[in-house]
Amino acid sequence: MESYHIRGGTPLHGEYQVKGAKNAALPILAAALCRGGIHEIYGCPEIGDASVMMNILRALGADCRREGNCLVVDSRQLTSAAVPHSLMSMLRSSVFLMGSLLMRTGEAVICRPGGCNIGSRPIDIHIDGLRHLGYTVTEDAEKVVCSGRCRGGKYVLPYPSVGATENLMMAALSGEGLTVLENCAMEPEIMDLQGFLRNCGFHVYGAGTGTIAVLGGKGTSDAMYFIMEDRIEAATYLMALAGTGGEGMLTGVRGGLLGSVLQVLENMGCRIRSFQDRIELVSSGRLRSPGTVSTAPYPGFPTDCQPQLMTLAACAAGETQICEGVFENRFTHKKELMKMGANIETCGKNAIIKGVDGLQGAEVCARDLRGGAALVLAGLMAEKETVVTGIQHIERGYEELEKGLRQLGGNIEKKSERKTEKTEESAAEAGCISTDHGSGSCVSVLPHV
Ligand code: EPZ
Repeated sequence: MESYHIRGGTPLHGEYQVKGAKNAALPILAAALCRGGIHEIYGCPEIGDASVMMNILRALGADCRREGNCLVVDSRQLTSAAVPHSLMSMLRSSVFLMGSLLMRTGEAVICRPGGCNIGSRPIDIHIDGLRHLGYTVTEDAEKVVCSGRCRGGKYVLPYPSVGATENLMMAALSGEGLTVLENCAMEPEIMDLQGFLRNCGFHVYGAGTGTIAVLGGKGTSDAMYFIMEDRIEAATYLMALAGTGGEGMLTGVRGGLLGSVLQVLENMGCRIRSFQDRIELVSSGRLRSPGTVSTAPYPGFPTDCQPQLMTLAACAAGETQICEGVFENRFTHKKELMKMGANIETCGKNAIIKGVDGLQGAEVCARDLRGGAALVLAGLMAEKETVVTGIQHIERGYEELEKGLRQLGGNIEKKSERKTEKTEESAAEAGCISTDHGSGSCVSVLPHV
């Protein structure tokens, strides 16, 4: 079992280069199947989720290999259109493969992704959209089987789902005519997926707005593509600087991608300057409450930054209200923060956080990716030592988080403890080793969101 051992109280300072975006890399890896070719993808972060997605591509017949900062995906030969059950249950985002497999082979079989710690995570919009585009989709408790071609036309998403937008963009490529998707998600990662598809010679327009137009076609070239920066990783590091009363510079990130987050940090008393490709933050020492913050689809405050904000609010002067407007169960970090002295009450999607003077170190357990990051930030802010277990959740989505924070002066170390009956029992009791999540037929060992 691995854990982070953190000694808090040191203001972070210095410079950090932001890495490639997990939530752009995953749909782009799936999209590498849309056109059979040898694609070069640069800037893919070295994280658990990307490794699982690469294994899925290999299981489908593609060849994937890392050459330095480049991921070479040879998708010329596919041998299957069925995503292996064992891998599907490890990576929810493999649901993106429905669209790319349908585009390439005219069929796709996935096992129904279960719920996870942050919500039930249904895929009804994905399925409804595919049917509207002309595909045949049959589903049971175990799996979803899709086949056919896109007949074009218009589909209005009932909710701007990021994954459904990305899936339908790829599925629409198989048509002969024009497909128009409305009420799409506008996250920057969707623009990155469009950029990759265009690099392959596909005709996709409008990503980043609510309306995306896709012209069916085969694609004309092998891609050479650079993945965008990870705006959520950047926000996490900015909040670490803010929460520890430090100051620093993030490079390789556009401030425009983080408008809502920068606004909240300024409301909390931070001084922020953002330039073409870097963001500078100077913390004001003790932060003040930002008042009420609601998470929402882009460009609203990102749900993926909500747990980290809760940690900052735990020590900010005043009372903060957070409304989690995207997922129905994204407060798994609350209990763990309270072990460290935070004063948090939750009711449904709302949380009230009364700022305390300081947090105390404790042994806490990460149960999901961003909730785990929030506990790391709390450890950096707390007195004495904090031990964060369940860090496999964190390492799915952050590349060497402990190394990056150490680079900014954080006192954080990754330690491995020999697995004994006792440690396993206590971890399972604390829910650190997830053996099953929610209703999904795929028993998730580590459902990745
Ligand atoms: C993507 O998940 C991200 N993951 C998530 O990041 C992110 O939190 C989320 O978008 C919202 O921004 C990746 O890009 C790999 P959604 P996704 O479909 O596509 C409901 C992280 O920490 N919904 O926009 O699954 C759903 O239940 C992860 O990096 C339906 O009801 O998000 C949720 O309440 C966490 N039916 C809401 O919409 C559907 O068919 C948003 O889901 C699909 C979604």
